[in-house]
Amino acid sequence: MTSRITRRQFARAGAAASLAAALPRGVFAAPAPNRKVLIRADSEIGLVRPEFHSHFAEHLGSCVYGGIWVGPKSPIENVEGFRKAAVDYLKELGVPALRWPGGCYADDYHWRDGIGPAAKRPKRVNIHWGNYVEDSSFGTHEFIRFCRLIGAEPYFAANVGSGSPEEMRDWIEYCNFPAGSALADERAANGSPEPFRVKYWGVGNEAWGCGGNFRPDGAGAEFRRFASYARTFGDTKPYLVGCGPSGNDTKWTRGFMDALAGSRLPGGYSMHFYENGSLPPLEFTPQAAMEQLNIFRRVESAIVEQRTLLDGYDPNRKIGLFLDEWGVWDRIPKADQDRYGALWQQSTMRSAVAAGLGLNIFNRQADKLYMCNIAQMVNVLQSVLLTDGPEGRNCVRTTTYYAFLLFKPHRGKTAVPVEGGVAPAMEGAALTGNPEAIHRLPPPKPDLSISASRSASELVVSLVNPSAGDDMDVECELRGARARQGRAQIIYDSDLNAHNSFDDPGRVIIRAHEVAVEPDKIRIMLPAMSLATVTVEVE
Ligand code: AHR
Repeated sequence: MTSRITRRQFARAGAAASLAAALPRGVFAAPAPNRKVLIRADSEIGLVRPEFHSHFAEHLGSCVYGGIWVGPKSPIENVEGFRKAAVDYLKELGVPALRWPGGCYADDYHWRDGIGPAAKRPKRVNIHWGNYVEDSSFGTHEFIRFCRLIGAEPYFAANVGSGSPEEMRDWIEYCNFPAGSALADERAANGSPEPFRVKYWGVGNEAWGCGGNFRPDGAGAEFRRFASYARTFGDTKPYLVGCGPSGNDTKWTRGFMDALAGSRLPGGYSMHFYENGSLPPLEFTPQAAMEQLNIFRRVESAIVEQRTLLDGYDPNRKIGLFLDEWGVWDRIPKADQDRYGALWQQSTMRSAVAAGLGLNIFNRQADKLYMCNIAQMVNVLQSVLLTDGPEGRNCVRTTTYYAFLLFKPHRGKTAVPVEGGVAPAMEGAALTGNPEAIHRLPPPKPDLSISASRSASELVVSLVNPSAGDDMDVECELRGARARQGRAQIIYDSDLNAHNSFDDPGRVIIRAHEVAVEPDKIRIMLPAMSLATVTVEVE
């Protein structure tokens, strides 16, 4: 899986040559590092919930049909109709939770279309994503089966925009009531006597837009109405997720939450934040990359501000904040979409850096978040897998896949603060998450992004260099832990548009990287546009 990246390779790549020459033997006698941070292993932020690394799959382009689901009669290798390569790769990655069926699609989806004998299911027009016709062969049972195969917790998005409280209530009963009711017995007759025990229920999607074009108070009122009938069936209490804003829309959150006064609060509250790019995925310039990567500062301040707002309504912080759609959204060439499906987007070295910036934020704001879902799982936007269209046999792991894999060791650990390391104006802002300080920032310039987490015996540090031109030589001082030994892994390519294609699926992968570890210090060199994780045994 991993191969070693040598100093020679860096030197060949050019950009990193000077620093590579300085490291690693006798590293602390080498020229002074150009970034210094303090890792506070003696302090805690909160649990890095595995759910921060969750996913989202919508009926859109070739994400579900052709990506995940090829059908049992397909010539493409499959497990009960699910693309085998996708199942294998996703199992290896580990998918804590999976949101489905949308997205915009959710508010035009009627779950009854997707149950019963496949041949009898109705053909439906997907009005949001190009009016193509779906045969409804991927429905509730298929989704649950897929979740079980890859080990993911299912997270449904119910239809509010064109649906009814009755429809959502019945879907919950169908999934969760053990036996003896007409709906539970219908589920059993459809092949699943055991209840699905689905916990997570999104009450609509993007209620401010494709989910019904509500105003915030109207969306709050809808939540109240739908929640009244969303009951515990059997032993599964539904965890309802209310529709929050796009980005950091504070008016939306105030309006929505005010409308809930005196009624049941949601279990979770979801926001969406895409990082738009101005160029096609394979044509990014350093300038365009910088502009896109800088959006992540706003993601972090949005999380902090939305959490603060929610805390005003819910001082005991019971409501979980979800970022259930995020990721880079580039200018996708029409030719790619015509060939492979709507919103089919390649992931590049830049996308991996973007993923690293997001995942670092989630660690740093671990106490404020509950679940985050990258958009989307296969073929659409910042996906972890790409196929060559719905009929294509090829399935590659994207650079984003490897970025998620690189961060996997953080799951379940306790996030700890990291101080310093960024341009002076950012200090106390990004690292502490102080929104006031973030708003006073000078015009952005991407700088080192870092997060750390620990268990009793291991410290994990992830570092991202989002600069397209500057290498970073980082010294991490440790407080509260003594390092015994460590290893580093990196994702790096000297071309910011490098990607894993069907011809060259292993171009951008995780490789071993040199790191110097002393009892109280770690030192690592990060070439421009790279991300690395250092895993250290500590006492
Ligand atoms: O992920 C693509 C779309 O982006 C989703 O359907 C919608 O929720 C968002 O606007």
